This record gives sequence, structure tokens and C-alpha cells, in this order.
Amino acid sequence: MRGRALITGATAGIGNAFARELASRGHDLVIVARNTKRLERVAAGLREKYHVEVDVITADLATHDGLRAAVNALTDTARPVDLLVNNAGSSVAEWFGITNIEDEDHQLDLMVRAPMHLMDAAIKAMTGRGHGEILNVASVAAFTPRGTYSAHKAWIVNLSRWANYHYGDAGVTVMALCPGFVRTEFHQRMGIDPNKSVPRWMWLNADKVVKAALDDLDKRKAVSVPTVRYKILATISQYAPKPLVARMARRGR
Ligand SMILES: NC(=O)c1ccc[n+]([C@@H]2O[C@H](COP(=O)([O-])OP(=O)(O)OC[C@H]3O[C@@H](n4cnc5c(N)ncnc54)[C@H](OP(=O)(O)O)[C@@H]3O)[C@@H](O)[C@H]2O)c1
Repeated sequence: MRGRALITGATAGIGNAFARELASRGHDLVIVARNTKRLERVAAGLREKYHVEVDVITADLATHDGLRAAVNALTDTARPVDLLVNNAGSSVAEWFGITNIEDEDHQLDLMVRAPMHLMDAAIKAMTGRGHGEILNVASVAAFTPRGTYSAHKAWIVNLSRWANYHYGDAGVTVMALCPGFVRTEFHQRMGIDPNKSVPRWMWLNADKVVKAALDDLDKRKAVSVPTVRYKILATISQYAPKPLVARMARRGR
């Protein structure tokens, strides 16, 4: 039985699919994103449909103040969080070396610094209680060289693998979720149309990704790669000659 779940980036895409699935299973939620109106709308819908408690935190997780607000929710002993879903993320549209370094800083803060701080707070609270789960949304991009985005995702996969092993005996499961292309607002926010370079068969549905991820979390896996096709691609990416993988990874965005 999981209790309260805190989900970052719960107003759209994969995070929103987590919010709906976890609420449907009876979990109370804390949902985090930057747009207050949209957060309130999502929270009201979840309360009405699933009869669960939903707290909202308006926070830009790439900022110190925003991150502190989310950390405070994780360290609140009166309302413990049993499942942290580190999901919020975005990508710069161009490759490193062309992008503005300020945009790279923002991406790094959101996808590395924020999950690191949230994991730190959650692990300390959860090991103290002797149970808890952390699900870090990474990407299959973690297994390929694709600029700073894939480097950030590789970082969180590596840390999740270690933490799953290291804190397993303390009752805390840590898992990195590595989906392929998922239909969300992600690419639209980047200002690109991936349909031109990504074939139809490579697209996944967020609801199915989330169900597969929660099944793998129940099995206490360190890494979850939903669907057989992406399991095969992830395996090839990890064991094929590196120059070949780098060439393949240049396609699609
Ligand atoms: N879509 C894909 O193909 C794909 C594939 C593999 C992995 N992923 C990963 O999946 C995760 C979710 O992506 P998605 O595709 O679901 O994206 P999405 O549809 O664009 O949703 C992003 C969510 O994160 C929130 N968010 C964005 N920046 C934020 C910030 N600075 N502070 C707090 N919240 C922020 C957004 O709300 P606000 O704008 O209101 O803040 C929104 O709720 C990301 O980590 C992404 O890297 C995506």
C-alpha cells in the first residue's frame, strides 16, 4: 500500500498520467508545476473523480525558492510522502555548442539539481521511516550519446541504479523510468515537430508507460524500459559498438 505521492510536472504528459493513475489507486497527492491555474484545474478534477486529497505547490524547480517549497513538502513529518515521482523536465531544442549556456544551466538545474535535492530529502525521510519509493523519470536517451539532455538522463539512471542497491535494505526502492518517444507536450514546448523524423511505431502512450512503470516499481526494479521494442533498442544501445550507437542517435529529436 502506497500513501501520499509527490509528483513533479503533474499537469501535463507523463506526470499527469502518473497523477491520474495514482489517484485512481487511492493515493493522496502533492502535485508540483509552475502554472498555478493549471495545477488547480488538474487538482480539482482529480479530487472530484477519485475522491483523494490533492495539495498543489506552484514552483519553478529550476530555482532555489521553488525547489525549497518542494523539499519542504518532502520533509513534512505530519504529512509524509511515500512515493516521490521526479518527472518535471524539458529540453533545449538545439545541440550543445549552439545553445545559449543560460538555457543549458536551466536544463541542468531542472533535470539534475532538482531531482538530486528532492531525492536527498526523500531518502533521508524514507530511510528514517523504513519504507518509501522514488521513481525518477529518465529516458532511453540515457543509453545513447545525444548532447546534454541524454547526459543528464544518464546521470539519473546511474544514481538510481546505485541508490536502489544501496537503500534497498533500508526499505527504499529507487527506480529510473526510461521511456522512448511519448506523445506529450514535450516536443511542442521545444518548438519542434518530431513527426518529421520519428516514425509512428516509435511513439508510446503516456498512460501505458505509467502502468508499466508502476508494475516495475512493485518488482523493485532499478531501471524500467517500457515495451519490448524499446527494451531491444536499449539493449542494442548499451552493447553495440559505440561509434555505431552515436551514428544512430543523431536521428530524431
Ligand atoms: N515526451 C517524451 O518523448 C519523453 C521521453 C522520455 C522521457 N521524457 C521525460 O519525461 C518527463 C516528463 O516529460 P513530458 O513529455 O511529460 O513533458 P510535458 O508534457 O512537457 O510536461 C512537463 C511537465 O513539467 C512541468 N514543468 C516544466 N518545467 C518545469 C519547471 N521548471 N518547474 C516545475 N515544473 C515544470 C510542466 O508544467 P509547467 O509548465 O506548468 O511548469 C508539465 O507539468 C521529462 O523528464 C522528460 O525528459 C519524455
